[in-house]
Amino acid sequence: MYRKGIILAGGKGTRLRPATYSVSKPLLPVYDKPMVYYSLSVLMQAGIREIAVITTPEDQALFQRVLRDGSQWGVQFEWIVQPSADGIAHAYILAEEFLNGHPSALVLGDNLFLGHGLQQRLIARSLPCSGGTIFTCEVSDPERYGVAGFTGNRVTQIVEKPTNPPSNSAITGLYFLDGDAPRRAHGLRPSERGELEIVSLLETYLAEGTLTVERLGAEIEWYDAGTHDALLEASQAVQRLQKGGELFGSPDEAAFRRGWSSGEAVAKAIQHLGKTAYASMLGTLVERAIRQPEAA
Ligand code: TTP
Repeated sequence: MYRKGIILAGGKGTRLRPATYSVSKPLLPVYDKPMVYYSLSVLMQAGIREIAVITTPEDQALFQRVLRDGSQWGVQFEWIVQPSADGIAHAYILAEEFLNGHPSALVLGDNLFLGHGLQQRLIARSLPCSGGTIFTCEVSDPERYGVAGFTGNRVTQIVEKPTNPPSNSAITGLYFLDGDAPRRAHGLRPSERGELEIVSLLETYLAEGTLTVERLGAEIEWYDAGTHDALLEASQAVQRLQKGGELFGSPDEAAFRRGWSSGEAVAKAIQHLGKTAYASMLGTLVERAIRQPEAA
């Protein structure tokens, strides 16, 4: 069974107030595009075309305005609301019908993975459809995150915001789980903060020895844009990387590279994007593809 995608883009965004009084966090811009574009392009790079977008009830229409029905990028969206922020693992209950037994890739709407070589890693990890895979990134302040502990290369421990971190490997907001995830999520109890915790769900796989880890190296920069400083840093990283003339976190680019959108669809997008650097970088990509088809 092929893997389906979930973008979890609800939540309260309290740490980004007052910006989030009127706009949902994943719709805020990260440099030149809405934050949710970055999550979406990760799923697209993993080859995923059926994607559930989970939002708060009040923000759904705004997300629909930004993402439309997905056909412009050769993907299909299923729209699901999360009435209250009941936790990341709650997404698997909400998406149970959509997943219909399929394995999934869940990405948080405020996580960015920037750099080269991600696509190959995602595709390699996408193939085994049993068990779970977490993606970790080396950080200097692991006590702020969920952290993985290792015995050799095997993940043997996961701890949420530890005082004594077992490693510097932060667990990022991207999870590949098998088709059993919704059933397992139903078995979880809410934590003290009243949420179905992703760590608890991952622990069920860890206990069975079916949780694997993909340790992202320095070539991938990971940002959790949940605070004002992190949001600014993420924007600066995109600005820096795009100075090389290539787009990062662009569904238009991902769709074109994968052959899910035609040159005509991209031309239409470019026209709509108008006088932006985004449009001109997209134009360069298409021109390059026409000149040297194998390099695009
Ligand atoms: P968080 O950043 O932990 O929560 P938040 O977005 O509500 O922000 P804050 O802590 O500032 O109040 O969530 C990480 C991502 O997961 C974010 O994109 C929102 C999403 N999320 C949901 O969609 N539903 C949930 O129940 C939770 C807990 C998070």
